[in-house]
Amino acid sequence: MEIYSVPEIARDVFWVGAKDWTRRMFDALVPLPQGTSYNAYLVKGEEKTALIDTVNPGFEGEFEDKINLVSSLEKLDYLIMNHAEPDHSSAIRYIMDRAPGSVLVTTERGVKMARLYHDLPDARIKVVADGDVIDLGGKNLRFIEAPWLHWPETMFTYLPEDKVLFPCDFFGAHTAQGVYDEDLEDLIPLAKRYYGEIMMPFGNMGAKALEKIKDLDIAIITPSHGPIYKNPQRILEPYTKWTAGKTDNKALIVYVSMWGSTKLMVRTIAETLLKEGVDVRIYDLEVADTGDIARELVDSRAVIIGAPTVLAGMHPLALYGTYLVKALKPPAKYGVILGSFGWGGGALKQAGDILVPSKMEIIGTLQVKGKPSEEDLKKVEEIGRELAKKMK
Ligand code: FEO
Repeated sequence: MEIYSVPEIARDVFWVGAKDWTRRMFDALVPLPQGTSYNAYLVKGEEKTALIDTVNPGFEGEFEDKINLVSSLEKLDYLIMNHAEPDHSSAIRYIMDRAPGSVLVTTERGVKMARLYHDLPDARIKVVADGDVIDLGGKNLRFIEAPWLHWPETMFTYLPEDKVLFPCDFFGAHTAQGVYDEDLEDLIPLAKRYYGEIMMPFGNMGAKALEKIKDLDIAIITPSHGPIYKNPQRILEPYTKWTAGKTDNKALIVYVSMWGSTKLMVRTIAETLLKEGVDVRIYDLEVADTGDIARELVDSRAVIIGAPTVLAGMHPLALYGTYLVKALKPPAKYGVILGSFGWGGGALKQAGDILVPSKMEIIGTLQVKGKPSEEDLKKVEEIGRELAKKMK
């Protein structure tokens, strides 16, 4: 058998998850430059044993071996499903088939999903609600409903005796590196990227969840992806800012350029903004990692879309980028749309239509025919100065 590491993260609490070092995409949407981990935890009380979450498809055997290194899977009493997405729940049947006395513990909404995906009989499901407790003998698991983080059924589990919070995806980071937060200097940018990709559309629910846990005595936070926080403040502080939608004096520019005209326009506004003291980030959608864009959206105060017209509408990559900006619901307050066309425009209107529901105030738009003239670029500079003034 392969030699596995099963760290004891608190007394009789073990990490039994799996590392997926080489996975490069999640949900066919989110790039994973450092892979990811599917964290699951075994909690041994004096009388009962509980497993918190499972692993992604393909890791069942490794998972089973790890559980058996520190306990006996066959004797497992509870399987806690904090979240039903398959990267954490797909091994439920595998585990419960090998632990005949085990019961799945989840929220009312989680039950519907468990029935749908795992075909479990009611006798093997225990529904819990906010504040319910399961006593393992010297260790109590308390459940905290945290809906829409980021699926409707999600909950956190709290272990007061060891001050451990198991928040599933919340506070996560997609990386296979490290065990504890202290192992990764660049962890917060990775967590921010993850927040932008997964949690930002549910920022209000995130703020509510933080309010719910604010009086808990937390020594360890154990997310379902990435390292475990021995220093909870390291992630609680940025999450407080991000879920509140606090932005920096920063403009994010995402653009596509076919023959250089749109590129010239976005570079001109970037220089103007820099002169006005605005921090600027630029991503060319032809080569950009969408995770980087999601990360920058978390605290950018303005978003500038550069979109040329092709075939009477936005360039498809710009369409994708603009839709992403809208779908991720960033806290940005201001927007600008720039673009160019050869014989007939259309991109500008299409970009505007997409961004209207975002509640961003559109500070300026400009669409030029062919290469931007000096006069056109002066107009771009004017829009940049106006934007910088608004952003202060
Ligand atoms: Fe990591 Fe929403 O699953």
